[in-house]
Amino acid sequence: MLELIRPTASLKQSYLEALAEFHAERRFLYHRLDVLQRNFDAHVQAECALIHWENIALFRVPETIYWLADDDTFVGRFELRHRLDNLADDIGGHIGYSIRPGRRRQGYGAAILKLGLEKAAQRGLSRVLLTCDPDNTASRKIIEKNGGLFEKRIERMIDGVLYCKLRYWIEVPIAHPAGLANMGAERKTGHQPGI
Ligand SMILES: CC(C)(COP(=O)(O)OP(=O)(O)OC[C@H]1O[C@@H](n2cnc3c(N)ncnc32)[C@H](O)[C@@H]1OP(=O)(O)O)[C@@H](O)C(=O)NCCC(=O)NCCS
Repeated sequence: MLELIRPTASLKQSYLEALAEFHAERRFLYHRLDVLQRNFDAHVQAECALIHWENIALFRVPETIYWLADDDTFVGRFELRHRLDNLADDIGGHIGYSIRPGRRRQGYGAAILKLGLEKAAQRGLSRVLLTCDPDNTASRKIIEKNGGLFEKRIERMIDGVLYCKLRYWIEVPIAHPAGLANMGAERKTGHQPGI
């Protein structure tokens, strides 16, 4: 079963395998495999924190991290930023996602955004901004498949780095009351759902 769940130590094995795959393509290098291997619980706690240090330089907004799990296997990571502010507004948008390299081109990318939009609805976001690099064909397709409407292309120079992004908006269907009830359940199980 495919689910977006809060980070959990129970996926340690497949998460570390996925991280090795990400490292091979130079992503998430700030998470050292040996450190996480020794202290995975601390990493899970950090993933459950509302502000993530790796994003602080760009996005100083609270966000909730979810992991995409296919049964007991870690498949991807989803970030939901709770509001837009300055740079997040311009280049980051509300949402970020990545699928582990070994599971790409199997529809997980489209699925993670679909499930993530349900989380956005539960949080009360009625409209979300997504951005992607112009040459990221897969992400563009995923956004469009999930109802993304192209707004504009932007370019921003930040600390000497030129960011060029395509901006899309997705209208989020209002959360069903059952969704809100589930969020309450998330709170009761002790997972940190954010503010
Ligand atoms: C972008 C990413 C999430 C796509 O994940 P995925 O699981 O491969 O996506 P899907 O299998 O749902 O594919 C969606 C579409 O993109 C296409 N696609 C996937 N990878 C592609 C690639 N490298 N080049 C061109 N098209 C690609 C698929 O064929 C599919 O097209 P279709 O709908 O016409 O069949 C994944 O490549 C990734 O994690 N990349 C690194 C992080 C990233 O770029 N995140 C997005 C930031 S905005």
